[in-house]
Amino acid sequence: MNILHIDSSALSAETSLPLYSDPRGNYSMSRRYTKKVVELLKAKNSDATVVYHDLEVNPIPYLSHVATTGLFMPANMHSPEQAKALELSTKLANEILEANAIVIGVPTHNFMVPAVLKSWVDHSVRFGITVGDNNGIPVGLANPKTKVIACVASGGDYSQGPLKGFSLVEDFIERFFGNIGITDISFVNLQGLANGQDAVKDAMEAADRKISEIVNNIK
Ligand SMILES: Cc1cc2nc3c(=O)[nH]c(=O)nc-3n(C[C@H](O)[C@H](O)[C@H](O)COP(=O)(O)O)c2cc1C
Repeated sequence: MNILHIDSSALSAETSLPLYSDPRGNYSMSRRYTKKVVELLKAKNSDATVVYHDLEVNPIPYLSHVATTGLFMPANMHSPEQAKALELSTKLANEILEANAIVIGVPTHNFMVPAVLKSWVDHSVRFGITVGDNNGIPVGLANPKTKVIACVASGGDYSQGPLKGFSLVEDFIERFFGNIGITDISFVNLQGLANGQDAVKDAMEAADRKISEIVNNIK
């Protein structure tokens, strides 16, 4: 099994600088859970390989002008400058094709994914690699058997009450992967993390159950 593991939280997995007051102690919840999922997958698949990107340590730059001009053009039409500017995009898009499982940590930032993760997305949607064209209709070229496990952390709880459905994160993740041909997406939701210690404990217990269920169902 080839695992592609992406973390995008600005916070570290354990403790970090006290950036803001938080009952969970300023560590990243999405990192904690992507790590757990990857460990469970590796325990189940002794020959698993992992490609890891920590987007806080090595941020993906925003697309440049030259890269953007070549993004939706076949590679054989690229100028040397475009090919060079798209090297990172080519690598990231191919990593998606090679993955059997994509484990992705998604903090909620202003009801969306963090900008650094959006930048990874912008590089990864590449004509001729992850998306193609069928008589003017875009088609996803990634392996439809690839499984995505998205660990989504949020201060608010969007599953119920007045904020139900208010976050754009899940829709965006589904739209992005659907566009490149991957629809087998499981969400591990860590919600209501700003709602006190009991809410954090409940969210973590539910997430622990969910990750076991997801990994058990993977053949
Ligand atoms: C810049 C920023 C924006 C945030 N915006 C939201 C938001 O719109 N909705 C929300 O529920 N939580 C928001 N939060 C809280 C985070 O989603 C929450 O702390 C979550 O645990 C972040 O994931 P992490 O623990 O992996 O870093 C925000 C946090 C930061 C730092």
